[in-house]
Amino acid sequence: MSKILIKRVKLVDPSQNLEDTKDILIEKGRIKAIGDNLFELEAHVIEAKGLVACPSFVDLHVHLRDPGHEYKEDLESGMRCAVAGGYTTLLCMPNTEPPIDSPEVAQYIIRKAEDIGLCKVLPAGALTKGRRGKELTDFYALKKAGCMAFTDDGSPLTDSRLMQRAIELAEQVGTFVMNHCEDDKLAVGHINEGYISSMLGILSRPASAEDVLVARDCILAYHLGGHVHIQHLSSSLSVEIVRFFKERGTKVTCEVNPHHLVLTEDEVLKSHSKAKVNPPLRREEDRRALIEALLDGTIDCIATDHAPHAVWEKGLLEKAMPGMIGLQTALPIMLQLVRENLISLSKMVELMSCKPATILGLDGCGSLREGARANLVIFDPEREWLLNEETNLSKSKNTPLWNRPLKGKVFYTIFEGRIVFQDV
Ligand code: DOR
Repeated sequence: MSKILIKRVKLVDPSQNLEDTKDILIEKGRIKAIGDNLFELEAHVIEAKGLVACPSFVDLHVHLRDPGHEYKEDLESGMRCAVAGGYTTLLCMPNTEPPIDSPEVAQYIIRKAEDIGLCKVLPAGALTKGRRGKELTDFYALKKAGCMAFTDDGSPLTDSRLMQRAIELAEQVGTFVMNHCEDDKLAVGHINEGYISSMLGILSRPASAEDVLVARDCILAYHLGGHVHIQHLSSSLSVEIVRFFKERGTKVTCEVNPHHLVLTEDEVLKSHSKAKVNPPLRREEDRRALIEALLDGTIDCIATDHAPHAVWEKGLLEKAMPGMIGLQTALPIMLQLVRENLISLSKMVELMSCKPATILGLDGCGSLREGARANLVIFDPEREWLLNEETNLSKSKNTPLWNRPLKGKVFYTIFEGRIVFQDV
């Protein structure tokens, strides 16, 4: 059915400064009307009293592991997770096998995702050939093949000369560079450097490893006037560095991962390798600084860093791969901050949808204005649920939140006017 009528939903859309109970009519893939007491004879009706609708989420940081590591995730399972979490646009990271350093791999991803059709998947191209940090990829060819930005995520680009050139070239092809800021000469271990790493006698990853590269990238963006996006910001000093440069008009944007907003380094004592992630979970002071930075605009958006790994890759802490799955738990985590009155619902939508859409320069998402493409999510902010064998749609289950009570559940995700996820 091509028409959908959503009745009496609480519509939250910061792009039109709207937070009100409304009916929404969807027709031919677009928002046909927003109003009170809408009626349409042929429409599929969703009674949504007590539910919230907003522009669906845009994730600038996901690992879909396809091609090459399909035992952890593939495009289809990753996209199923995404729509179950309220996402309809994903920027997928290039640390696949082979990496996204050629137009062929970028095109493989775009075509396969289009065939699956559940949501939009856009590739991020590798910054350097083979993600080895030595030689830049062909930005022009990769952009032409559909890459939206460039990063070696999973690894930092530490060579400042190459980074300078990358920022210039990305600007020339009309896109931007993203960086995983952790200097790998300093970040050699497994968890945050601090009391817990000393107590356990475990090699660590200090905040300074992040801070030096965040500062370096901000300085280069400042001098070159190019756009740099800092991935998964996690340290309080990095927040201050970004704030300093933003105040001076530098084109720097940054994201934070939901796990860094609710978990701290002591989670390692409870969840062991499931709490191992790069950059690592840090101190309570860092967590507080990240939340503050959401409010004053220093941090632009939420990105999940959904990073699936198989059970056998998450054994002993010192041997385990870093990363957590996160597409299905981002909304409940963010709603926890809303319930604690740390951010408003409208701010949450801005951070998860409008802002990341703007950073990628996408129209067609991040707004539910009349005439816009119908990409939206309908959720119950109060519904309690567990991420477990029954509800998890990822091929992997590496998260400390496994089997822990979550509050806030997606009921419908609508992509281009089609219901692509439903749980009622
Ligand atoms: O913890 C992480 N895992 N951080 C990254 O940047 C990469 C990711 C992965 O690919 O597993």
